[in-house]
Amino acid sequence: MYNTIQTKILFVCLGNICRSPMAEGVFSKVVNDANLSEQIKVDSAGTGNWHIGHPPDNRAIKAVALRGIDISGLRARQVSANDMHAFDYIIAMDNQNLADLKQLCIPSHHYKINLFLSYADQYDDSEVPDPYYGGNQGFETALSMIENASEGLLKKIKHDHG
Ligand code: 4NP
Repeated sequence: MYNTIQTKILFVCLGNICRSPMAEGVFSKVVNDANLSEQIKVDSAGTGNWHIGHPPDNRAIKAVALRGIDISGLRARQVSANDMHAFDYIIAMDNQNLADLKQLCIPSHHYKINLFLSYADQYDDSEVPDPYYGGNQGFETALSMIENASEGLLKKIKHDHG
């Protein structure tokens, strides 16, 4: 049972080449596995503009490929004020992303913006750490957090939409 025509989810990090494209890929698979890909649309964006048009970082592509997920076709874009209207759930990877998104968004839409790890049940952390300047282990850690939070986010969306 899912009583809304379409729900739109936007994952946001700084560059849109590491964390948020991994989240887009993982969450899309979780939605697809639940046979909800017609009802739930998934996208990602970055608060920064340095990587507009770039594919995800190779380390992110490889980490999710080990889970059978292909994000190599994604291209980075910068989040816009219009996104704050167009999307129903806007998911920030860290507290800086959260603060930047709230600046872009009218106060009556702030309820849409939440930290991704607030949906995780296996982590007490509030942030998915930025893995860009570290090694492969940072991508594995971020990916494990993203996988756990994705399950919780789908539960929350299903709960919100009956
Ligand atoms: P992301 O990682 O926010 O997870 O995509 C980063 C990617 C690039 C940069 C910072 C973080 N950068 O400074 O270029």
